[in-house]
Amino acid sequence: MLVDWAHVLPETGVVLDAGAGVCVNAHFMVERGLSVIAMDFSEVALRLGMRSESNEKGNLEAVVCNMEKLELPDDSLDVIVNFFFLERANLRVYRRALKEGGVIFLETLLGMDEDKLTPEYYLQRGELLKTFTGFEIMHWDEGVPCGDKKFSEQLVARKQLQLERWR
Ligand SMILES: C[S@@+](CC[C@H](N)C(=O)[O-])C[C@H]1O[C@@H](n2cnc3c(N)ncnc32)[C@H](O)[C@@H]1O
Repeated sequence: MLVDWAHVLPETGVVLDAGAGVCVNAHFMVERGLSVIAMDFSEVALRLGMRSESNEKGNLEAVVCNMEKLELPDDSLDVIVNFFFLERANLRVYRRALKEGGVIFLETLLGMDEDKLTPEYYLQRGELLKTFTGFEIMHWDEGVPCGDKKFSEQLVARKQLQLERWR
């Protein structure tokens, strides 16, 4: 999805890649000129990700942390990427942490009947759309097949400018 929607990425700016794993998406954005903070609680994954040569300019920073109780400064990030990782409370944190005009890319698994025992790991239908009410929705889809009987919800959305500030 990031590749399909790469045209909405800014040319410069700071990105949070939440649950970055081995930093495949992070490197893609570094190569496009962005500065990326890759967060994950797996030091092993981040160390593997940091080995790549595409960090010659030092634009990729890895932060090993448990994102369960994430705090981010308000209006501090140009882009947030959160793929196949869900800490539900963070969705509200992301809303605030994006700068006006900033973009969020989110895709993770949708709960199916057999996932009812662990609802914390899965989105409910339309949950991303509801959580990002007030954002400009550039792309949204749900029920996107992604592997063995698994489906995801996808969202690409921009935080609207607060026009009343200019009145
Ligand atoms: C399925 S992988 C997705 C990796 C990457 N976003 C991608 O799409 O390729 C989920 C990642 O989230 C990380 N993760 C899960 N729970 C976490 C938490 N509470 N805090 C930080 N990282 C977490 C895992 O270590 C793993 O690297």
